[in-house]
Amino acid sequence: MNKKNLDQEPVSQAKHQNKQADEVIVIAVDGPTAAGKGTIARKLAQHLGFACLDTGLLYRAVAVKALENKINWEVGQAISLSTIARKLTPLDLSHPALRDEIIGRGASIIAAIPEVRSALLDFQRRFHLLGKPVKGVVLDGRDIGTVVYPDAHLKLFITASQQVRAERRYKELLNRGLPVIYAQVLLDVQERDNRDQKRSSAPLIPATDAIIIDSSSLNADQVLAIALQHVQKKLGLP
Ligand code: C5P
Repeated sequence: MNKKNLDQEPVSQAKHQNKQADEVIVIAVDGPTAAGKGTIARKLAQHLGFACLDTGLLYRAVAVKALENKINWEVGQAISLSTIARKLTPLDLSHPALRDEIIGRGASIIAAIPEVRSALLDFQRRFHLLGKPVKGVVLDGRDIGTVVYPDAHLKLFITASQQVRAERRYKELLNRGLPVIYAQVLLDVQERDNRDQKRSSAPLIPATDAIIIDSSSLNADQVLAIALQHVQKKLGLP
């Protein structure tokens, strides 16, 4: 099946099975909100020539579609939301509203619904089949090393203190020209951590074999350098 067809077809209906999964190298990059894991995942993938999936976009894409269809995520709606999740296609991951604050908040609530999480597993595990053949994939999220790919070849868990993460998010929002108050951003980070850590399904927790990198006093280049050392040590890649 070529890429064009896969783009247009709900992933759950595609005929390909996970044949390649054992052949590609999987790097899991997990961690709490605003820890900088997306940047590290992207840079790692670029450096290694791997494909990269920001799995938060999947939960955000479900929120975008829910909003479009007037489905209220505050009151459960497990069946409608998991139906949306099962039908996502790669095209849904480029919607202009994905980064909106309301969508981020909705994604965080929706991500606590077990039916939605299991509906999105297939997409994440088949992602390496969706484009041209790749040697490896980097997936960033909350549960990649614990649930999506418990056998990932390398697991990184990138974290930082809540204050540092809130400051980074605050500066990012200011740079986007949005009116923000630091105290509100900190509260939002705390709420998201709380939801990610306390949910019963796939709570945010480092895998027992994950390498934990605390980026509180490091910049992105320093974190990348540490990550690359582990790539070299564990995977023997340059
Ligand atoms: O990382 P990002 O903020 O884009 O993710 C949106 C929301 O999706 C997060 O608040 C988190 O609760 C959820 N998420 C998740 N599991 C993942 C990726 C994201 O629960 N693997």
